[in-house]
Amino acid sequence: SFLLFTVVFILTADYIKNRRPASYPPGPQAFPIVGNMFSVDHKRCHESMTQLAGKYGDVYSLRMGQEWVVVLNGYEVLKEALVNQGDSVADRPPLPMLQDISEELGIVFNSGHMWKQQRRFALSTLRYFGIGKKSLEPVILDEFTHCSTEVQSFKGKPFDPKLIIGNAVSNIICSLVFGHRFEYTDEKFRKLISWFEIALQFQASIWTQFYNSFPKLMRCLPGPHQTVLRVWKDVKDFIRGELKEHKNNWDPSDPRDFIDCYLKEIQESKGQADNTFDEENLVISVFDLFVAGSETTSTTLRWAFLYMAKYPEIQAKVQADINRVIGQSRQPSMEDRVNMPYTDAVLHEVMRMSNIVPLSLPHMTNKNIQLGGYTIPKGTTIIPNLTSVLYDKNEWETPFTFNPGHFLTEEGKFVKQAAFMPFSAGKRVCLGENLARMELFLFFTSFMQRFTVSMPAGVKAKLDYQFGVTMAPCPYEICATLR
Ligand code: HEM
Repeated sequence: SFLLFTVVFILTADYIKNRRPASYPPGPQAFPIVGNMFSVDHKRCHESMTQLAGKYGDVYSLRMGQEWVVVLNGYEVLKEALVNQGDSVADRPPLPMLQDISEELGIVFNSGHMWKQQRRFALSTLRYFGIGKKSLEPVILDEFTHCSTEVQSFKGKPFDPKLIIGNAVSNIICSLVFGHRFEYTDEKFRKLISWFEIALQFQASIWTQFYNSFPKLMRCLPGPHQTVLRVWKDVKDFIRGELKEHKNNWDPSDPRDFIDCYLKEIQESKGQADNTFDEENLVISVFDLFVAGSETTSTTLRWAFLYMAKYPEIQAKVQADINRVIGQSRQPSMEDRVNMPYTDAVLHEVMRMSNIVPLSLPHMTNKNIQLGGYTIPKGTTIIPNLTSVLYDKNEWETPFTFNPGHFLTEEGKFVKQAAFMPFSAGKRVCLGENLARMELFLFFTSFMQRFTVSMPAGVKAKLDYQFGVTMAPCPYEICATLR
């Protein structure tokens, strides 16, 4: 009976301590200890969370682990929170795994003054390499020619495009941050790519949740998390190696890449109050650009080719656009985009439907805010459910069907849609949005100019996804025949 008493006591104490605060948005009944762990299907988190909005409204709360989180749904609510009250929800929650990896430096998992400074610098540097003399456009087109040679080597036979596209996109980030690309067979490059693969797979596993729930214990215990921490350390050491070489032959008057620009910033901001520019922040910022910029863009391209194989009539229209505007005698350029509204619409629809970061990244309130009639206290984790916006029934004519018409007027002109939010919105909006758009347009049109994609004989294109760090298509093989 003592045991029974103890159990009842613990459960009651847990219930009282963790009761949903009165001012909080509603949500499903939270149970002692497990909270709302079983209210969402962990394999289809974004779908469960969207369904819960149907029951509890666009602003609702869940008990996850020992914490309350508030889930935001639908275009209107996300706009109100991320844009209109953007400053108040611009922080990230402190997640031990991510803090241990990023050492509380850099951009993606940082908050406050340091985040602001690092983000502002990275944005202006990306802009510098996005346009004008230093544009990455020729770099992307050159990377495509390498990729195209690889694709051609399959001679129209089925192949899995994952590795080839992954290599190409990682190389574009390498060119941006290190100022050079690697041959796909280069051993250093192969290692870098495989480290990422291992670590990203782990990041999406249940071990990360354990680590975040019991960080002190997990830091001491052996297990796959230790391998991952070591792998991330290897990636950072790789970046440190590149940094050392840059310092050896650095010319401040002619920055070749992101690292050169950062070195200049360190020099220029020395002695300034609140200065956060140093070599450790440089390493983590470069690391962040890799993590945030490679898997996302390559996954989107893989979805694009799968959609083209599934809808050959749409692919043919894209190729007609290419024939009309670019032809076969030159490579595409960003200037072509305004003249190719159909292709632009197809790429937007690929991004909407593929919804690769379905719950965005978590945010945290840095003061009490009012949202949907509720008071959400300072320090609450906010989940912006991008799925509920990209598939919002009030915003899209056929939310669950691939339809480039969502981005076209009756006359076939491209039309922007406010609810198109795959890059999120507000103060934390994806920092690489412009680079990603440039990579997607140039790579996709180059590919469609050169190849026609189709499924192998007798195979039907399946749009099933698998959850990793991004929502990716299940592995598939495709045939790419020269046009
Ligand atoms: C953040 C999407 C490509 C760099 C994000 C976020 C999303 C996103 C949803 C979270 C925003 C938030 O917290 O509300 C995408 C998609 C991409 C893409 C769909 C490709 C199709 C890239 C690329 C880069 C990049 C190419 C850089 C080279 C970043 C960074 C952040 C971020 C640094 C963190 C921003 C911050 O915390 O202030 N991205 N991204 N992304 N993205 Fe992207």
